[in-house]
Amino acid sequence: MPSHLRFSPFRIAAVAALCAAAALSVSAAPSSPTLNLMPVPAKVSLIEGKYRITAAAAIGAVGEAGPRSRKAAARFMERLAGRTGLFFEQDFLAGLAKPNEVGFLFKYDSVGPLDGTADESYALTVSPDRVFLVAPTDLGILRGLETVLQLVDADERGYFVPCVQIEDQPRFRWRGLLIDTGRHFMPVDVIKRNLDGMAAVKMNTLHWHLTEDQGFRLESLAFPRLHTKGSDGFYYTRDQVRDVIVYAADRGIRVMPEFDIPGHSTSWLTAYPDLAAAPGPFRIERHWGVFDPVFNAADENVYKFFDRFFQEMAALFPDPYVHIGGDENNGRQWDANPAVARFKQKQGLADNHALQAYFNGRILKILAKYGKKMVGWDEIFQPGLPRDIVIQSWRGRDSLFESARRGYAGLLSNGYYIDLCQPAEKHYLNDPLPADVTLADNERALILGGEATMWSELVSPETVDSRIWPRTAAIAERLWSPADVRDVEDMYRRLDTVSVRLEELGLLHLKNQDMILRRLAGRADIGPLKTLVEVVEPLKGYSRQNQSLRYTQLSPLTRFVDAAFPESRPARTFRQTADRFGETRDRTLGETLRGQLQRWRANGDLLRPLIQASPALAEIEPLSRDLGTAAEIGIQALDAILAGTAADAAWAQDSLKALEQAKKPKAHAELAIVSGVEKLVRTTLGK
Ligand code: ACM
Repeated sequence: MPSHLRFSPFRIAAVAALCAAAALSVSAAPSSPTLNLMPVPAKVSLIEGKYRITAAAAIGAVGEAGPRSRKAAARFMERLAGRTGLFFEQDFLAGLAKPNEVGFLFKYDSVGPLDGTADESYALTVSPDRVFLVAPTDLGILRGLETVLQLVDADERGYFVPCVQIEDQPRFRWRGLLIDTGRHFMPVDVIKRNLDGMAAVKMNTLHWHLTEDQGFRLESLAFPRLHTKGSDGFYYTRDQVRDVIVYAADRGIRVMPEFDIPGHSTSWLTAYPDLAAAPGPFRIERHWGVFDPVFNAADENVYKFFDRFFQEMAALFPDPYVHIGGDENNGRQWDANPAVARFKQKQGLADNHALQAYFNGRILKILAKYGKKMVGWDEIFQPGLPRDIVIQSWRGRDSLFESARRGYAGLLSNGYYIDLCQPAEKHYLNDPLPADVTLADNERALILGGEATMWSELVSPETVDSRIWPRTAAIAERLWSPADVRDVEDMYRRLDTVSVRLEELGLLHLKNQDMILRRLAGRADIGPLKTLVEVVEPLKGYSRQNQSLRYTQLSPLTRFVDAAFPESRPARTFRQTADRFGETRDRTLGETLRGQLQRWRANGDLLRPLIQASPALAEIEPLSRDLGTAAEIGIQALDAILAGTAADAAWAQDSLKALEQAKKPKAHAELAIVSGVEKLVRTTLGK
């Protein structure tokens, strides 16, 4: 955790000037309704007054500003110009203005190290004359500049920053996003725009999952067959890797590579079959799941290979940590290999778990030799390993707490699997250190934070942003903000604003929905398709893969379901309104629901010509029909409730049965408004 802020004379003067104003303390959650901050800062005081943004606004530093903060200042002004349309007079790309002339002023003491230990705290004071940021390190300035951009608001007179005092620091020092580039390759542009999104919500670690059964995604000089044979040509060159690392570092983000071994390694073994525990040849895997190919942990050549491999990678990636995966080795090839059995016996290794622990121990020594610390999925946890490894919990939170009790640092990813298409609320309330966990202070300190995981079985470069954003912003808040910031409704309110603002960074999470629908319809006017897509969600968990189509790496991800967002916001709002209406019978709420339902009921007729014109849309016909059916039932229920007529039990039974049908998966998606309609039907029965 960062040390306390050192306050400069500048800041004290600015604060003194503000003391006259009455400060409305909104420390911790919920944030004031006038603010759209995400993550919510540790301490916010809203003050009367506004700093007006004009074309004369400029940015400057007190004292020296290093390259990272200068670049951040330039990006800040560029985004501000983009948002406000103002032609700033300052040539902000060429240099920084003088402190006494500027509206946006910052000051820091030192350059923060990008090793997971840096102080990222900052203090922000906005007065009518000036926006002033102070931080111990330049990383704090970067975090604070994002806060300022989130504070920018508008009224009839123009754009402004509301007067506030903020003191902020992260709760956890490791706030990561994993992007799986092994299963589906993600070009550098995808990585970069998501790094911008991460920086906007104060995340600080990109976990770059670079190798999988389905692809080895980076150039190796030592073993070039890895990328030439293991990638279909979709890999990052070493120059691209360096470019991404610099881009991330400019945004205060570490890049930790993951090389998933000894399992999940078909692509490596396609290139170097002699290193496998079973005879080859192997082929790049196209399906999803857990596969047999595994490195031969009993073969000394394997360790020679990894020594050279990690020597190369340790030089390429500056981060102190290397992730070795270690998950989901099914052990079948080890079991089938007599030499492996003999090796286990000779070494006194009782089972495959022990053999993998032996393998990890050897890899750990190699990494240590090249100055790296080891991170692995919770399968690698084995008492006796050195205490500077980090365990990443994906199978449950208990393994995180258990490893902390035994003195090992850990990261939480269980509950942050954003590929499962679960609601933001679920991730948001998943705390790495829940109030009821019994850990001593020194054990709590070992919980470093967490990572959202974007596994890429069912995402392409076109759709990946919409699976990451905006929900990952809710996870970012969980990992940054105080533990008691847990107001779900306020989170959703802010998430809507954050989502739109993320677009200014080039993220395509909103934009590509329309693009996919236009492509499917073959026309620009997609109104009725949009109405339907807004109320469906992709099937949750991994059930989409169990439907009629078997997805592989080569399957198109261009269907209607791929345009649907993981969480339907209109469906959530409808459900909540139906709940409130059920409690209050409020006529205005009833009319709101009726308007919505009438629009849905009418949609089928409008959509039909689009479906008829596009074979790729044929599969959504049942979804569209179900939306009409559900809407009709909802309207009948509303009519009965508002008329105060007696419940018709037979009608209610039939309706609930029809809604049960409407809930079933269709076109790999589900209709998310059905539970709201069910609520209306139950309300007719007085339930
Ligand atoms: C994992 O999800 N197998 C780490």
